Amino acid sequence: MEIIKVKSSKNYSIYVGNNIICTVGTYLSQLKPLCKVLVVTDDVVDKLYFDKIKRSLTDCGYTVEKFVFPNGENSKSLETYGEILDKLAEKSFTRTDVIVALGGGVVGDLAGFVASSYMRGIDFVQVPTTILSQIDSSVGGKTAVNLPMGKNLVGAFYQPIFVLCDIETTKTLTEEIFNDGMGEMSKYGVLIGENFAELLEQDNLKENLFQLIVKCIEYKRDVVERDEFESGERKLLNLGHTVAHGIEKLSNYTISHGKAVGMGMKIIISACYKNHLISKDEFQRMNGLLNLCNQRSNCPFTIFELVETFTLDKKCTGDTITLILTEGIGKCVLKKVKIEDVLEILS
Ligand code: GLY
Repeated sequence: MEIIKVKSSKNYSIYVGNNIICTVGTYLSQLKPLCKVLVVTDDVVDKLYFDKIKRSLTDCGYTVEKFVFPNGENSKSLETYGEILDKLAEKSFTRTDVIVALGGGVVGDLAGFVASSYMRGIDFVQVPTTILSQIDSSVGGKTAVNLPMGKNLVGAFYQPIFVLCDIETTKTLTEEIFNDGMGEMSKYGVLIGENFAELLEQDNLKENLFQLIVKCIEYKRDVVERDEFESGERKLLNLGHTVAHGIEKLSNYTISHGKAVGMGMKIIISACYKNHLISKDEFQRMNGLLNLCNQRSNCPFTIFELVETFTLDKKCTGDTITLILTEGIGKCVLKKVKIEDVLEILS
C-alpha cells in the first residue's frame, strides 16, 4: 500500500491499495471518536460497496446512515445538494459527525460541497471508486455542484480528512467508465513529463494501473501543495477542461466528463500544433498518448459553439480567459488571451 501525505490548509493522507475499502472504519477511528456517519453514494455504487463500508464502520462502533441518489451528472445539482442537507438535519448531524463520499466524481464533488457548508463545515472522507475520481477529483479539495448555466459553478475548496483509494474497485467499472477515467489520464500524459508518458507508452494500462494512479495522485498533490486555491499553477490541471466543460454542457451532460476531456485534449493539442507551439513529432506523440488512453472520439460541436460557453468558465475574467496550452510533454503553460481571439487560436 502507498500512503501519500498532503500538506494543505488541512493535512491529510491518501491511502492507495488493493482491497482496502473495508478498512475505512479503522482509519476513521484514528481521527474521530465514535459519531454518526452519513455515507453519500449513488444507486450503482450503493449495490457494489455500501455493505462493505457499513460493516467496516459499524464494526468500529460508528452509527451509519445512508443517502443514495441516481447515478449521473444530472444529480450534481442544487436540488440533490439540498436533499442531502435536509437528511443531515433530520438525522440531527452536528459538527462532530462525518460524511463519507463513496463513489465517483459526482459523489465526491457533491458530498464534499455539502460537507463544506453544513453547519459551516463538517468533516468528510473521500472513498473514490472510479479512475477519474481516484486520480483527480478526490485529491485537492475542489467540491461543487452544477447550475443549469454551467458546470461546477457553485462550490468550495474544502479538503477531506483522508482519502481511501481502493484500486480493486476499478475492476467493477464498465468499459465506458474505465475509459472515462482514461480521458483524465490522457491529460496527465501530456502534463506530467517524460517518465509518465513513457509508462503510458508501455501500452499495458491494466498491468500498470496501480503505478499510473499513484503517479497522477503524487503529481496532483505536489501542485495542490504549491497552489491550493488555484491562483496560478493549479490552473494547469485544467488542461483540456475549458473545452471539456463546454462539451459536457452543450451535450446536456450526455457526454461524460472524462470523454469530454479526451475531446478537449485533442482540440488543444491541434491548436498548439497549428500555432507552432509543438512540432509535428510532438503532435503525433501526444495524439498517440490519447489513443493509448482510448480517447478516439471527436468533438461533435463547432469551435464557435464551444467558445460561446467559455464566458462562464472560472478561468475567465472580464474579457480575457486563461488558456492552458502545451509546448511539449511536461511543458504546459498558462496563456491569457482575449475571448475574441480564442476562436482564432482554437479553430
Ligand atoms: N481538476 C482540477 C483540479 O482539481 O484543480
